[in-house]
Amino acid sequence: MIETPRLLINLKAYLESSGDSALRIAKAAEKAWRETNILIGIAPNIIYLRMLALDVEIPVYAQHIDPVSVGAHTGHVPPDLVKSVGGSGSLINHSERQVGLHHISEVVKMLRELNLSSIVCVPTPEEAAAVSALNPNAIAIEPPELIGTGVSVSKAKPEVVVDSLKAVIDVNPNVDLFCGAGITNEDDVRAAIKLGSYGILVASAIAKSPDPYKKIRELIKPFIEITRA
Ligand code: G3P
Repeated sequence: MIETPRLLINLKAYLESSGDSALRIAKAAEKAWRETNILIGIAPNIIYLRMLALDVEIPVYAQHIDPVSVGAHTGHVPPDLVKSVGGSGSLINHSERQVGLHHISEVVKMLRELNLSSIVCVPTPEEAAAVSALNPNAIAIEPPELIGTGVSVSKAKPEVVVDSLKAVIDVNPNVDLFCGAGITNEDDVRAAIKLGSYGILVASAIAKSPDPYKKIRELIKPFIEITRA
């Protein structure tokens, strides 16, 4: 089974992280991983998934995936095809690409059968509890109102992270917890780790940074500190 990254970079559909820039950010993440051994994953727009998976050795995730096999499914993203181009897994139910519980349940099963990783986004601790029962590899708690604001969930809403961790542990302790939304600097990451977060989901702080490598190195610093402690 694919190791779950500590930092997952969602490139969304920002112009700043599209085309050659998607590859530049993925290379920066790969370099930071090689230097530190802190595993970093990247979730580009589906258009760039194959390009990145061919060119970097870090895990490349789809941003969305559908519960369909290969065949007559226009406009869908089948797990088999993600695997066939070298993808490592998928984000599911991002707040900008929401799906229902049935969809989540089906794709988590399909990804597991293919030995691919599933990271399901949820907006509340209650949904974290419900999704944990489906046995994804990880859950990412992201209060939608903080996404893209630069105000971090770990500082502005620590109780949401704590309650989600409790919900996940109560239902399924095998599931790792990520938190995301507004993560901007190393202190935000440090606060998230203190609250019990396994990993961080981040987008704009890296995707829009003038120096993505420098920002990645900053955001993984707290993970280096815990491995040394
Ligand atoms: O998937 C991560 C994302 O929704 C958080 O976005 O820009 O607040 O890091 P951002």
